[in-house]
Formats: sequence, C-alpha cells, structure tokens
Amino acid sequence: MDVAGSIALVKVVQAVLLVVAALGLTAYKWPDNAVVTDDAVYDYIVVGAGSAGSIVANRLTENPNVHVLLVEAGGDPPIETAIPAMFAFLPKSTIDWNFVSENDGYSAQYHRNGYLNLPSGKVLGGSSSIHHYYYIRGHANDYESWANATGEDSWSWNNLLPYFKKSENLVDEEILNSSTGQYHGTNGYTVITRELREMPLKYLEAFREVGSKVVDDINTGNTLGYTRPMVFIGNGIRQSSAESFLSPIKNRSNLHLLKETTIDKILFDDKKNAVGVQASRNGEILNIYAREEVIVSAGAFNSPKLLMLSGIGPEAHLKSMGIKLVADLPVGENMQDHLAVILVHKMEKTSGIPKLENPFKFPIPTFVGLDALNTDQGYPDYLTLNLIVRSNPLNLLLLCATVFGLHNDVCEQLAKAGQRREILVTIFNVARPLSRGKVMLRSNYPQDPPIIYTGFLSNSTDLENNAAFIEKFIKVTESSYFRNVSAETLYFDLPNCRGLQQNTREYWKCYVLNMMDMTFHYSSTCRMGSVLDAELKVLGVNKLRVVDASAMPNMVSGNINAAVMVLAEKAADLIKKDSDQYSVGPWMT
Ligand SMILES: Cc1cc2nc3c(=O)[nH]c(=O)nc-3n(C[C@H](O)[C@H](O)[C@H](O)COP(=O)(O)OP(=O)(O)OC[C@H]3O[C@@H](n4cnc5c(N)ncnc54)[C@H](O)[C@@H]3O)c2cc1C
Ligand SMILES: *[C@@H]1O[C@H](CO)[C@@H](O)[C@H](O)[C@H]1NC(C)=O
Ligand SMILES: *[C@@H]1O[C@H](CO)[C@@H](O)[C@H](O)[C@H]1NC(C)=O
Ligand SMILES: *[C@@H]1O[C@H](CO)[C@@H](O)[C@H](O)[C@H]1NC(C)=O
Ligand SMILES: *[C@@H]1O[C@H](CO)[C@@H](O)[C@H](O)[C@H]1NC(C)=O
Ligand SMILES: *[C@@H]1O[C@H](CO)[C@@H](O)[C@H](O)[C@H]1NC(C)=O
Repeated sequence: MDVAGSIALVKVVQAVLLVVAALGLTAYKWPDNAVVTDDAVYDYIVVGAGSAGSIVANRLTENPNVHVLLVEAGGDPPIETAIPAMFAFLPKSTIDWNFVSENDGYSAQYHRNGYLNLPSGKVLGGSSSIHHYYYIRGHANDYESWANATGEDSWSWNNLLPYFKKSENLVDEEILNSSTGQYHGTNGYTVITRELREMPLKYLEAFREVGSKVVDDINTGNTLGYTRPMVFIGNGIRQSSAESFLSPIKNRSNLHLLKETTIDKILFDDKKNAVGVQASRNGEILNIYAREEVIVSAGAFNSPKLLMLSGIGPEAHLKSMGIKLVADLPVGENMQDHLAVILVHKMEKTSGIPKLENPFKFPIPTFVGLDALNTDQGYPDYLTLNLIVRSNPLNLLLLCATVFGLHNDVCEQLAKAGQRREILVTIFNVARPLSRGKVMLRSNYPQDPPIIYTGFLSNSTDLENNAAFIEKFIKVTESSYFRNVSAETLYFDLPNCRGLQQNTREYWKCYVLNMMDMTFHYSSTCRMGSVLDAELKVLGVNKLRVVDASAMPNMVSGNINAAVMVLAEKAADLIKKDSDQYSVGPWMT
C-alpha cells in the first residue's frame, strides 16, 4: 500500500464509522440534550465541553443549588474515540473542527500541503476525545514560569500538586507503593495507567548506557530521564474529560448540557459585565443569561475567536473587522505549540509478520524522554515521544500521512524502511520553544474559521536548538543495543538537503525544516498575565473568565492535557470562592 492507499483506507473506515455512529450505541453514557428556551437564566454558563469545560461544569454542579449550562458545538463521542487503537481515524472527520494553519512560506514547506492540519475536537470531551493519550505533567520549572507571569505562587508546581492528584485515579500498584506514590491520586475521576509492555525496555537500557537516567515515573515535577509513560487509558477505554467528568454525572439535574450548539458572542451590559451568551443551534438564535459568570472553555483557537467576536482583542484588528471594542487586549497573540521533528531509526530485522497489538492498550509500544543538553540545569530542553513499530509498514503510513501530514515521498521512504524491520519513530520536541504564533479573525462571521499562524521557527534560536538537541539524542546510536542490531538513522532523501553532510549542524537544521510537523499543543492565546489576571478573569471586563489551554502563561514541557486539567480544577475552586460573595438565588428560566 502507498500513501494514497492509506489515506483512502482511512476515508473508507471513517465512512463506516459514520454509519455506526448513527446507531447511537453509546448514547446511554452521555447527559441528555437539555431543552433550553430563549432568555433562559442560569448561574453559570460554560462554553465548550472539552478537557477543561467538562471539569469546570462538573465541579461547579457539586453544589445542587448551583445551576450550570454547559454548551458544546459538537455532540456525543462516537465509539471510535473510546478505543485506543482507532486514534488515526479521528482527525479530518466530523468530530474535528478541521482547522489548518496559514502557509507562512517558511515552515512546513516540504509537506503534503505547505501548511499543517490543526486537529481540535468538536465533540463532548473536546480535544481530549481525540488526543494521543500521553499523561505527562511537565516540570516544576514550567509552573514557576506560570507563577512568575501571574505574580501568584498559587500557580507553582507545589501548590498545583493537590489538583493534579484530585483528578487522578492512578491504577498502578508498583508506582503507588514506591517513593513517587505520594505524587499521585487514587480517588479522582480520571483513570491513569502505565505502558507496561516489555518492548521499550531494551531502548531504555540503551539510553541509560549513553548517560541518561531511566525512571519509572516522570510525573514528579523534578525528574529528567526516559520512562514507559503514564496514559489516559483506563479499563481499555480513552479517559477523555467527557468519559471521566461528564458520564458519571449524567443524571445531575442542576447541570444542563446543550449539544450541537455554538456560542457566537458574549453579551455585555453597559458596565462591561458579561451577562450571557448568544447561541446558535440549527440556524436558530438564542440569548441565554448567566447570573454569576460566563466561563469560556472553547480551546486555544475558539476561545480567542469568541472573545474577539465579542469585542475583546487588539483594537486595530477588531476595528478592521468592524467589531465594536469592549476591551483592548492582546487576545490571540503569543500562541505556543510543540513543533515535532520526526526522527526514524531502523532497528533489528524481523520475520516481516506484523505484530498485532491489543486494541484496548496504547496503540503502539512506547517510551518517552525528558532530557537536556546539560542535565545539571535540572529541567528539560526536549521531550521525545517514541514509538516502536515492528514490521508494520501500514502503521507507519498511517502515522506519517494521516496523523501527521508529511510529504508523500517521505512517507513512502518510511514505509519501505519498515518492511521486515523494527522501526523506532521519535516525535522530537523542543520543550519550551521561543517562537510564537497568532490567532486572528478571518471576518466577523462566526462561521468562518480563524486565521492561524503557527509561527514555528520564526525565532531562529529554535532551529539552532532543535539541531543541537537532536545531535545529543542521536548519540543513543552508540549504545550496544543499537550497535548490536546494526541500527541506522534513516537519513531520508530530502531534495532540499541533498549535498549537506549527514549528522552535521547544517544538515539537522535542514532536516528540521523538512521533517517537521507538530504535537497539537496549541496554547497561551489568552494568557494569564496579559489577557487574564491570576484568577483567569478577563481584564477590563467583569464576570468573564477563560479556562482552557489558552489561559496558560506558557506551554509546559509535556503533552499539555494534564496541565489543562490542573488549570481547570484550580479554576473551579477560584470560581466557587467568588460565588460565596454572590448570593446564589433560586433557579429561574
Ligand atoms: C491530535 C491531538 C493529539 C494530542 N495528544 C495529546 C496527548 O497525547 N497528551 C496530551 O496531554 N495532550 C494531547 N493533546 C492536547 C490536548 O488534548 C489539548 O491541549 C486539550 O484537550 C485542550 O483542552 P481545552 O479544554 O483547551 O480545549 P478542547 O478540549 O479542545 O475543548 C474545547 C471545546 O469547546 C468546544 N467549542 C469551541 N468553540 C465553541 C463555541 N463557540 N461554542 C460551543 N462550543 C465550542 C469544542 O467543540 C470543544 O469541545 C493532543 C491534541 C490533539 C488535537
Ligand atoms: C521566575 O522569576 C525568578 C525571579 O525573577 C527568576 O529567578 C526565575 O528564573 C524565574 N523562573 C522562570 C521559570 O522563569
Ligand atoms: C503494594 O503494597 C500492597 C500493600 O502493602 C501489597 O499488597 C501489594 O502486593 C504491593 N504491590 C506491588 C505491585 O508491589
Ligand atoms: C442515571 O439514572 C438512570 C435511571 O435512573 C440509571 O439507570 C443510571 O444508572 C444513572 N446513571 C448514573 C451515571 O448515575
Ligand atoms: C527569540 O527569543 C529570545 C528570547 O525570548 C528573544 O530575546 C529574541 O528577541 C527572539 N528573537 C526573535 C527574532 O523573535
Ligand atoms: C548484543 O548481542 C549479544 C549477542 O547476541 C548479546 O549477548 C548481548 O546481550 C547483546 N547486547 C545488547 C545490549 O543488546
């Protein structure tokens, strides 16, 4: 099979899945669609039932006197979101917003399209219903930057640790019995398990041999090293925020969930209080009011878009869109994300018979690393996500061509290399890049997707760092395991890099530009410290907060879903604390 064949296969499977979805096999699991009339009033309205919004809605409705409306543009999660093996079929589907980046003329040029796909979940659970399961919290140093940006030590690692534990139900006796057990929770809504297959162990040993640390638990906030990671999979099922925070409370009568409804605007009174939202459902427009607050949890692209449509954003940009200014703030600026460089090693020869994995486990045997050029600094420079694909060219094609959008020619070279061979695919990320992207409005029509510039490699230090860090990572090829199996770095034939000497700084810089994609960690577009205060309240207006990946002052050195969740857990407490000062009256509609 070639690239076109694998893409066609994905389309066929997706078409079959649409038919399956129509059966509504899992509908029993989710809260019903609420009947909400024009002019309805709630205590709180939460926009977006994603990673963060589902948590906020759950926590606020723990008090039966508090009435919350949760509004979600998507619908119930189809069955394929639950099954770990199906992750490659989720992007570019009806549960994806299907955003793409602008072609910036520099990054992602040797790519299928010259721009990047930016999958984002449009479904209960949001992007946690389509993500890649890694549970990696990041390092205390990341959260120190949050504390610095907000001037609030409550955002430091030590002060957030109780919230990490609060969401978590770690099912792993070995860790819980060990010295790092203290960092984990066992009573939370989200089941976390760990990669326990043996396949990664020989690789961990190789990294140990070349001087890196090997640990059992990388989620302690102060650890560098290589490990078999923890994952958002429990009982064989994806632990999205919908699965863990909404399904168990589907009967809570003080939580109303409005599905397949999009919020187009936040409504303000003349004192700049957010008093409600304008919703659209099948062409019908509803105004719904919030007595206490509106909480925007629409994700790192749609939250800034909604704020700007509502008059909160850079003054000149809003003016050019014909939108009346409510507050002049740098909304949409400072976008951060993990650029991913795809590195490939050809490992031992195999019989050629694909090894089939249990579909209810993490889809491909994996290990991860948080490492630094100079480990004395204590915090990571780079994050590597590593997949071990054994004689399975089709899986390599799916990864290369549908999960990522690499050039067809590259994907075919990869699939060829993977015949009768074990392949190590490394998704290599500089942990805290300096480049910044930007989200802007395309027009003042809510239906239009935002304009998104990733900004990748716009700060040239990122290119230098990528190359320097890859040089260190690649030293693992000197280990006895790699030597034993005659491992080879796959130096793809990249037209733009021909003539450069392999494994030199200049070569790697060229390689990075040509073999880049991303890890989908869009964040910081409405960050605390410039758009939000330390309690996630939008500056310059009242009764409005943003609680999701866009609120992070900076991205963390990990896959960011755990950080989004901790932010949402803390936000719920901040909102509850303020509500003691309001009077929560009887519910009216
Ligand atoms: C393909 C992919 C793989 C990833 N892999 C990992 C991983 O392995 N590990 C990890 O930790 N992280 C991963 N991430 C990142 C992580 O999933 C996200 O950062 C996180 O889910 C973002 O949460 P959020 O609450 O900010 O936004 P979301 O979870 O995206 O939620 C936003 C919600 O708001 C809804 N919405 C948007 N606009 C409106 C509107 N106007 N009206 C009503 N509803 C609206 C959306 O439909 C969505 O449900 C991945 C992400 C992607 C896309
Ligand atoms: C936070 O601020 C302190 C004091 O200015 C500084 O020393 C430290 O390096 C900063 N930490 C981060 C992660 O930015
Ligand atoms: C963890 O500790 C409990 C109680 O001491 C013990 O019963 C169990 O066997 C231990 N499990 C592991 C995997 O070490
Ligand atoms: C919700 O209520 C139904 C009907 O009473 C019950 O069968 C179901 O178990 C309840 N679900 C949850 C998650 O509490
Ligand atoms: C790159 O980032 C550094 C550190 O933040 C900054 O000082 C420098 O100005 C940036 N360069 C560009 C071109 O943005
Ligand atoms: C290398 O191969 C030899 C011989 O097959 C074996 O004994 C040894 O354990 C291997 N070492 C590693 C690190 O794989």
